[in-house]
Amino acid sequence: MATETVPGPAGAAAGPQPPVLATRGLVSGYGRMETLHGVDIEVPRGKITAVIGPNGSGKSTLLKTISGLVRTWRGAVLLEGEDVARRPPHQRVRRGLCMVPQGRVVFPFLTVEGNLRMCAYPVKSEKDLRERAEHVYELLPRLAERRHALAHTLSGGEQVMLAIAKVIMLRPRLVLIDEPSLGLSPKLIDLVYEKVGELARAGLTTVIVEQNVRKVLSVADHAIVLVLGDVRYAGGVADLEREVDLGRLFVEGRG
Ligand SMILES: Nc1ncnc2c1ncn2[C@@H]1O[C@H](COP(=O)(O)OP(=O)(O)OP(=O)(O)O)[C@@H](O)[C@H]1O
Ligand SMILES: [Mg+2]
Repeated sequence: MATETVPGPAGAAAGPQPPVLATRGLVSGYGRMETLHGVDIEVPRGKITAVIGPNGSGKSTLLKTISGLVRTWRGAVLLEGEDVARRPPHQRVRRGLCMVPQGRVVFPFLTVEGNLRMCAYPVKSEKDLRERAEHVYELLPRLAERRHALAHTLSGGEQVMLAIAKVIMLRPRLVLIDEPSLGLSPKLIDLVYEKVGELARAGLTTVIVEQNVRKVLSVADHAIVLVLGDVRYAGGVADLEREVDLGRLFVEGRG
């Protein structure tokens, strides 16, 4: 299986490039319960987009629908302008759309290096694998120091980093991360966000769902506020607090 990201259909064309990712009228849910009611978002290239909103508003569902873990009922998921909403998750991964799910998903009894290699299983060439791992270690030197350690012996923050590193092995165009700060101490949260900021500055387009609103807004450029499956705000972080009463949103569930 090829894992190199393929250029989108408009990638080589003249004129403005489409956003890396956009959704149009996205509707999805569970059983008969509709959770997302027609979500339109655009994710700017090379930036960090924060998705925030009260509990149960559909943030995780949005990431899962974009990555294909939850089926799209109606609407489009445009990756570099191409609608991938009816494609299975692995084909979206091949197109460079990778998700880091909630809860530090690593193989506990494999080493750091074993985790990286396992996730890059479609990469057949040993030379390519080594180059990809070295690239990850350059970006995340702490993982290089711990490369022979079993994953379950890493700190919580290091495990989050490893979960992100696993998808970087696939050379994604964009990464969706669900709740990276969950269960981490404030110091480790700072560490994780420092790294997320560095990765974005290195050009990785990142979408982060986060309960820790202050923290994610301190690194994000763009914000999307979801309330009960609808987009309440989409725009720059600088204008967010003028438009949305964040205190009220998170205390009362509406802003
Ligand atoms: N697997 C599932 N089966 C049935 N309903 C689900 C499932 N996952 C989520 N839901 C429901 O969908 C709605 C949105 O849930 P979702 O997990 O997307 O919210 P969220 O914004 O990520 O919340 P949180 O901030 O608590 O993580 C909720 O009403 C939830 O109960
Ligand atoms: Mg969630």
